[in-house]
Amino acid sequence: MQVWIIVLCLFGHVTSDDFPSLITANASIAVVLDHQFLQDKYQPILDELKDYIKELARVELKHGGVLVHYYSWTAINLKKGFLAVFSVASCEDTWSLFKRTKAEQLLLFALTEVDCPRLPSDLAITVTYTEPGEEVPQMILDLRTERAFNWKSVIMLHDNTLNRDMVSRVVQSLTSHIDDEDVPSVSVTVFKMKHEVNEYLRRKEMYRIISKLPVKYIGENFIAIVTSDVVTTMAETARDLGMSHTLAQWLYIVSDTSTRRGNLSNLINDLYEGENIAYIYNRTDVSSECQNGILCYCKELMNAFISALDEAVQEEFDVAAQVSDEEWEAIRPTKRQRRDMLLRHMQQHISTFSKCGNCSTWHALAADTWGATYRRQTDNIISNKEDNYTNILIEHVNLLQVGFWRPIDGIKFEDVLFPHIQHGFRGKELPILTYHNPPWTILQANASGAIISYGGLLFDIVGQLAKSKNFTIRIVLPGHIKEDSSNDTSTDMMHSTSAKLTLSAVARGKVAIAAAAITILSDPPRGINYTIPVSIQPYAFIIARPRELSRALLFLLPFTTDTWLCLGFAVILMGPTLFIIHRLSPYYDAMEITREGGLATIHNCLWYVYGALLQQGGMYLPRADSGRLVVGTWWIVVLVVVTTYSGNLVAFLTFPKLEIPITTISELTQSNLYTWSINKGSYLEMQLKNSDEPKYVSLLKGAEMTTPSGTDANLMTGSSLNRVRKERHVMIDWRLRLKYLMRADTLATDSCDFVLSSEEFMEERVAMIVPADSPYLPVINKEINRMQKAGLINKWLSAYLPKRDRCWQTSSSTREVNNHTVNLSDMQGSFFVLFLGVFSATTVLLSEWFYNRRKKKNERVVIKPYVE
Ligand SMILES: *[C@@H]1O[C@H](CO)[C@@H](O)[C@H](O)[C@H]1NC(C)=O
Ligand SMILES: *[C@@H]1O[C@H](CO)[C@@H](O)[C@H](O)[C@H]1NC(C)=O
Ligand SMILES: *[C@@H]1O[C@H](CO)[C@@H](O)[C@H](O)[C@H]1NC(C)=O
Ligand SMILES: *[C@@H]1O[C@H](CO)[C@@H](O)[C@H](O)[C@H]1NC(C)=O
Ligand SMILES: *[C@@H]1O[C@H](CO)[C@@H](O)[C@H](O)[C@H]1NC(C)=O
Ligand SMILES: *[C@@H]1O[C@H](CO)[C@@H](O)[C@H](O)[C@H]1NC(C)=O
Ligand SMILES: *[C@@H]1O[C@H](CO)[C@@H](O)[C@H](O)[C@H]1NC(C)=O
Repeated sequence: MQVWIIVLCLFGHVTSDDFPSLITANASIAVVLDHQFLQDKYQPILDELKDYIKELARVELKHGGVLVHYYSWTAINLKKGFLAVFSVASCEDTWSLFKRTKAEQLLLFALTEVDCPRLPSDLAITVTYTEPGEEVPQMILDLRTERAFNWKSVIMLHDNTLNRDMVSRVVQSLTSHIDDEDVPSVSVTVFKMKHEVNEYLRRKEMYRIISKLPVKYIGENFIAIVTSDVVTTMAETARDLGMSHTLAQWLYIVSDTSTRRGNLSNLINDLYEGENIAYIYNRTDVSSECQNGILCYCKELMNAFISALDEAVQEEFDVAAQVSDEEWEAIRPTKRQRRDMLLRHMQQHISTFSKCGNCSTWHALAADTWGATYRRQTDNIISNKEDNYTNILIEHVNLLQVGFWRPIDGIKFEDVLFPHIQHGFRGKELPILTYHNPPWTILQANASGAIISYGGLLFDIVGQLAKSKNFTIRIVLPGHIKEDSSNDTSTDMMHSTSAKLTLSAVARGKVAIAAAAITILSDPPRGINYTIPVSIQPYAFIIARPRELSRALLFLLPFTTDTWLCLGFAVILMGPTLFIIHRLSPYYDAMEITREGGLATIHNCLWYVYGALLQQGGMYLPRADSGRLVVGTWWIVVLVVVTTYSGNLVAFLTFPKLEIPITTISELTQSNLYTWSINKGSYLEMQLKNSDEPKYVSLLKGAEMTTPSGTDANLMTGSSLNRVRKERHVMIDWRLRLKYLMRADTLATDSCDFVLSSEEFMEERVAMIVPADSPYLPVINKEINRMQKAGLINKWLSAYLPKRDRCWQTSSSTREVNNHTVNLSDMQGSFFVLFLGVFSATTVLLSEWFYNRRKKKNERVVIKPYVE
């Protein structure tokens, strides 16, 4: 080990170990030239560098001085008050040295071997020395550490541009472990293509390789390291195989462009919507003025350092001159601030003045493809002629210059390498077709018919999409939809015409997406593709709310009809029975008691039994045991009957009696009371036809088929609602729509006349649509899926649902049970009976009168002839 210490003393006293209060006092720097790394180049480089630094300090450093300590290995003691460390060492040594300088908050600028991950650019400067023409692995490593792509796996396709050695270095630079958690290793799959000169054979070879790639397992990120004449062929092949789409990323590294002296952009003529393609191409200059070599970099770095030091010293000097020593002690920069300042100055110096290795530069281009064909067209998209539309070729190719690479400071990005992956549509304006159809889409127009605001569930979704995919929304209407639809009067008719117009407009492919709630059919119309369902709408039906039954006959309810009949017969039979037994009993003859009055007539017996039933004892009792037994057992019967009756009556008084409601399809089809109708040609009819479940079959069979005709569907809805209310009709529709109808009716009439069925059936899936084979379908689906998983869509939808109101309660009975006071309607029956009794008594009274008069008259008539 040799330790070289050269002291360049341009300034006085140099004694203490304290950190200098001013850099000017004594800036000291450690220069580490690793002997092992440099091998036999060590001595010449050291000699030359020493001379160079001496000269440099003398000429360039106008303020202060610099102490340079030379070391021949990296394991040096850093606690000597260095301001910075310059190292020329292997990658491993550089990193271990960096860890220690970082702890000491020292500036490290390092020159190291190729294929070395650069040190963090906010703490250090790294220059990797490369022989010209061998920079591809380092460049890929720089791309990876700069996080130009965020890949877990990559498929590398290469041709003869790379030799075996290079391939393994590239793979190494992608897979190697880096001490930075943000930069994970990438798994690489490598495919080599034979270089065919013949265009046809080349295409065939490429087709063979690409079509066999198991992209499902190894991802869809590609790096193609190829010659420029292959780029176009490759892009076309990938496109033909459907592998160049919105979720795939292609990075072409083209190394032979500089010999052609052509700009790569001339080669790229056709790009399609939705592709993610970036190019990095060789712009190396082959003129003779190119400087390169380790010494060149050493000198350049020292040059940058000295100039940065000079500037820093100047700055500190200026400040210190204006304040007192004590104040300066308080405000002087810390070690860390000094490091950052020097670093900044050095980076600036390098990026402006660097010459070494400058001939090898590579430029990065990104294709700006997303949303490129949706530029503002004529607003009336309906009038556009139909054009066949499978892949959307971009007419004006726009390539973004996103950055460049050079050996000294690596890759410098002005924009991101894959702009669409990170920034989506980059703020472009996308035409969104829509029409008013609450609650899915709610448009508001001002008096002149311009849309001033939009909302609704689908716009919540599209808005979220716009936010995450970075586009703005331009509303496009499908032709001549009435703009006065702002009054929440979107009718079914209008809906279906708008839907038809929307479908045909989307099929022409002039819009990016249609924000319209379209039912997913099993055989979709041509020219469109559905997104995944945004909502699933079940069908349900409403019927009139079950009415309370009349309570007039409440007092009859405790017993069934046959019980009443039985009771009546019992009363009627018991009279004669009592009479016969009473009559036949020899007891009275034996005891010589007359049977006059009392139970001696059958008429009295009947009244007695009836009176006993009402617990009113008669005046007479039989005296014979036989008769008493009959009466006694009758009393027992009466006891049981009366107790049962009064108990049941109380229960019936408390619980209101309702009609039995119909809540399921089976109940509906089995009851003969109700009618229902289904729109001809509707989705529901189609589904019912396809179903062979018995209840659906009979639902379809029993339905009236209505053809939605006439323009005022609102009126139709109104009339069918009235039918439901009055005529035992049933209305079948989406549960959601029925809820709206019910809510609107409640608001209008202030009553709850309808109930919703408990059964939901035949779900209808609602989705938005995009033009067929739109490249953005997977992107949109992915976002919708994410929103659904996060529960956003449900949350949004529930905001548009009618609020819960009192009609949501299934019936009012439960509320009243605990709190029912007997009212007139409960008692009306008994009053009625009383009236009936009085009425019949009056009738009987009248008939008794007549009978009496008749009798008297007859007596007179009988006597009269006698008198005459
Ligand atoms: C730095 O300068 C101070 C005084 O300015 C001196 O005491 C000290 O010895 C110097 N440090 C070194 C390492 O030379
Ligand atoms: C870049 O182009 C230069 C000049 O044509 C060439 O010498 C060099 O080898 C190329 N780089 C690579 C990696 O092929
Ligand atoms: C949207 O795109 C613009 C243009 O590229 C970009 O500046 C902006 O950062 C992007 N916004 C988001 C949120 O990605
Ligand atoms: C309606 O809105 C459009 C666009 O914002 C505007 O140009 C027009 O003047 C508005 N009309 C009225 C009557 O406010
Ligand atoms: C909206 O409805 C209100 C009354 O509800 C009516 O006065 C107004 O004219 C309607 N507006 C349109 C554009 O139909
Ligand atoms: C889009 O629709 C076409 C027919 O219109 C169909 O062939 C294709 O499979 C659909 N794509 C998707 C992703 O569903
Ligand atoms: C009982 O009925 C009265 C009047 O109908 C009502 O004000 C009260 O809130 C009811 N109480 C309960 C517990 O339902």
